[in-house]
Amino acid sequence: MSKLWGGRFTKDTNELVDRLTSSIGFDQKLAEEDIQGSLAHVQMLSEQGIISGEEASLIRKGLIQVKEKMDRGELEYSEADEDIHMNIEKFLIDEIGPVGGKLHTGRSRNDQVATDMHLYLKKHTQTVIELIESVQGALLKQAEDHIYTMIPGYTHLQRAQPVSLAHHLLAYFWMLERDKERFLDSMKRVDLSPLGAGAMAGTTFPIDRKRTAEILGFSGVYPNSMDAVSDRDFILEFLSASSIMMMHISRLSEELVIWSSQEFNFIELDDAFCTGSSIMPQKKNPDVPELLRAKTGRVYGDLMGLLTVLKGLPLAYNKDMQEDKEGMFDTVETIEGSLGLLAPLIGSMNVNTDAMKKAVTTDYSNATDLADYLVKKGMPFREAHAVTGRIVLDAIQKGLVLLELDLNHLKEFSPLIESDVFEAVSPETVVGKRDSEGGTAFSEVEKQLSLAKEKLKLQEQG
Ligand code: ARG
Repeated sequence: MSKLWGGRFTKDTNELVDRLTSSIGFDQKLAEEDIQGSLAHVQMLSEQGIISGEEASLIRKGLIQVKEKMDRGELEYSEADEDIHMNIEKFLIDEIGPVGGKLHTGRSRNDQVATDMHLYLKKHTQTVIELIESVQGALLKQAEDHIYTMIPGYTHLQRAQPVSLAHHLLAYFWMLERDKERFLDSMKRVDLSPLGAGAMAGTTFPIDRKRTAEILGFSGVYPNSMDAVSDRDFILEFLSASSIMMMHISRLSEELVIWSSQEFNFIELDDAFCTGSSIMPQKKNPDVPELLRAKTGRVYGDLMGLLTVLKGLPLAYNKDMQEDKEGMFDTVETIEGSLGLLAPLIGSMNVNTDAMKKAVTTDYSNATDLADYLVKKGMPFREAHAVTGRIVLDAIQKGLVLLELDLNHLKEFSPLIESDVFEAVSPETVVGKRDSEGGTAFSEVEKQLSLAKEKLKLQEQG
């Protein structure tokens, strides 16, 4: 019987069963973490006198040799050996003989796999945080260059009130900041060691869980062995944080797609980040933001998939949980790839300030300010709203914008209107005067920028 657990079996496993139960096709991505976990375990076993120092050093050397051979592509994984844990154990025994079989003392694949996943996610959460910061940096840089560039602000995708382009871009900076906080917070839970929980009930060997946690760089251990091998909420948190972040990235991408259309023409994406059409020679397509928008769907799918896998499982470990991996790897690769592209995409985009200027000077997005102007001259807001509405309608019918209307004509709508009205509804005033905290006024945007810079700098240092 060639299986590591073959002792109580009388037949070989059906080949189709091997195919169904095997996870080596995907969990080989955990090879590094698996060896890292084994090295810590074997060190602790010898420190505790559970195996001899000599045995431990043989196993340690063997594991390192296996790792080197794996890196050189000299070892072939076998489906019959099911998963990365048993493949590595097999390689180890091939390498150093039966003493390799002592490695699994006081351990189960159940705590082993959970440990691998914690190590893997801890490493990648750190990478994701750094990548988020690079996107924030790109947004910040563009914002710095465009404090005084004005752009229509939209609600219902209808022009609402003009804003500073920096204000618009910084909105995404803060969304990403919260995304980062979510990942950082989830770290508290990823940073726990399940190792030593055994199959689920602990072990009779005098192991030291705190010691393996310490060697692996975890800040603590799961206090309950059943919980340690049963839950995958640390992955769900990663997938949830990723889903929310991808939702933000998708919205930003959608804006980049719209802004780069000929109709808007607010930005031009760099050629290096666009693609062409096989039939229409004039096309320059924003494939990158389109795909970032679409990839959001697969991350949501990964989250829904794992939530569904876990929802009906009794304690403790169930084989169902092997299905936790592909979605996690997929999300890690998807979000790292997406963030990695988004930073240079934003950094290299060209802002068409002329088109933006034209947009804010040829629309009615200063209508609120005309109403506010009347209010400041003593008219109740509700009445000012109605008067302004009539003026806007009149202007639309004449094909003019508010700034183009004649003062005498305006006075027919309200005698309160005087020559200072034009200054009051110019885009510069309209944006510049919205200086309530967090508003779009240039002065407020400057404050926001320094706050954002401080945040980013603090994190880079910390
Ligand atoms: N490949 C398994 C997984 O990923 C490892 C744990 C298997 N444990 C077991 N008792 N079959 O979940």
